Amino acid sequence: MNIAVIGLGYLGATTAVALSLVGHDVIGIDPDQAKVDALRAGRVPFFEPGLDEALVEAQTTGRLRFQTEHIHTSVDVDVFLLCVGTPQSRTGLGADLRYLESSIDNLAPFLRANAIVVGKSTVPVGTAEKLKSRLAAHVSFEPYMSWNPEFLREGTALKDTLTPDRIVIGVDDPHSEALLRQMYEPMAAVNIPIVKVDSKTAELVKVAANSFLATKISFINAMAEISEQVGADAVLLAEAIGYDERIGNKFLKTGIGFGGGCLPKDIRAFQACAADLGLEQSVSFLAQVEDINLRRRRRVVDIAREELGDLTNRRVAMLGAAFKPETDDIRDSPAMAVAELLWAAGAHVVIHDPKAVENVRRMYPNVGVAESVAEAVAGADLVVVGTEWREYALADAWQLGALAKNKLVIDGRNILPYRQWQEAGWKVIALGRNLEHNPIEVLV
Ligand code: UGA
Repeated sequence: MNIAVIGLGYLGATTAVALSLVGHDVIGIDPDQAKVDALRAGRVPFFEPGLDEALVEAQTTGRLRFQTEHIHTSVDVDVFLLCVGTPQSRTGLGADLRYLESSIDNLAPFLRANAIVVGKSTVPVGTAEKLKSRLAAHVSFEPYMSWNPEFLREGTALKDTLTPDRIVIGVDDPHSEALLRQMYEPMAAVNIPIVKVDSKTAELVKVAANSFLATKISFINAMAEISEQVGADAVLLAEAIGYDERIGNKFLKTGIGFGGGCLPKDIRAFQACAADLGLEQSVSFLAQVEDINLRRRRRVVDIAREELGDLTNRRVAMLGAAFKPETDDIRDSPAMAVAELLWAAGAHVVIHDPKAVENVRRMYPNVGVAESVAEAVAGADLVVVGTEWREYALADAWQLGALAKNKLVIDGRNILPYRQWQEAGWKVIALGRNLEHNPIEVLV
């Protein structure tokens, strides 16, 4: 099939590569010339494991091209996939839909009557209907519009796209359903379930899934708050409840909580959407989910104060800037949020991250950045683990102990082999844990 992927961020670039690898002809479109140039040259403009190689492989098939705008060839497109960002609006909690709207306006002149338009971005329920009316105002026929949410995670984006747990197609007419089933035939052939719903349900499925995941993390972090108060251990608690198949052991890691370009903005947008529907009570618990999440970040600074007193001019090594490992994305990153709180408290924070340093420099030009863990830790009064990179779990506690001014570490992700660190002379404080009574090691 001929497919246009509009928007070439984490979602669009991965989708374009994956669909061309399974045999479709794909044009990726993004107005950002630098992004298009990089992709044409076989370079993914962000860090995503395996995607560079897959991009080059897809390009050698001749089935993947990139452009900054639609050209005459867009009239041959069967499926227009909208993969543009839906960031939080500047004026409230809701989603900003302007990139979706301009995508619709730009593709309209090239839309054939039997081509379909499919949204993949995360949106408030009812967006497909609104975009369909917008599109209808541009064309002389009734356009086809549907929603096909995406569940890929950064760090495992390509695998999640090629072999997802499920594919959800939100279609309101048989023609869109037929074309989407044809597009996903290579996935259906390997028994990936395709769940067919209407477009509104599909829009809700995505925010519901992300809200559930965020709630799961905040639930275990709430247990961590209680555990800290009474001297219990939330990591062991998570293990114990996780054996119950109804609960499951995934997404129950305690620490400084969730961040990134999706979960935080999606739970805010869901609250705004529910309020617009007069149903704020239905998802009012999401405000608590966010509160718990933000409290865990502040907890790190409280512990630092309890241990060190005034933080003015104290040197803190922040290990990690990315919102999670295997990405260079620092959007709404818990590690960076903790770093900002420590700055605000007067500390001198030096940040290390294996992949996200460029993004840190771009967003925080004045921040101290270290090229290695050793450089970050040298002379530190406190070390904080902010991102669960494997490199930190494997770091040499003895070598780092010789470099630090004060051997104090707060493990915000529960990844350090504590006994080793303690044997090397470190005082280890791990969020939600009782290391005295339960010195069990957890390794990523
Ligand atoms: C999330 C969803 O997991 C994807 O299914 C969805 O497609 C994507 O958002 C999206 O909407 O596009 P992602 O943002 O890549 O994916 O990251 P997650 O793996 O969900 O992690 C989110 C945050 O939660 C990270 O900061 C991570 O460190 C934190 N986390 C995760 C925990 O604190 N504890 C856990 O047990 C798991």
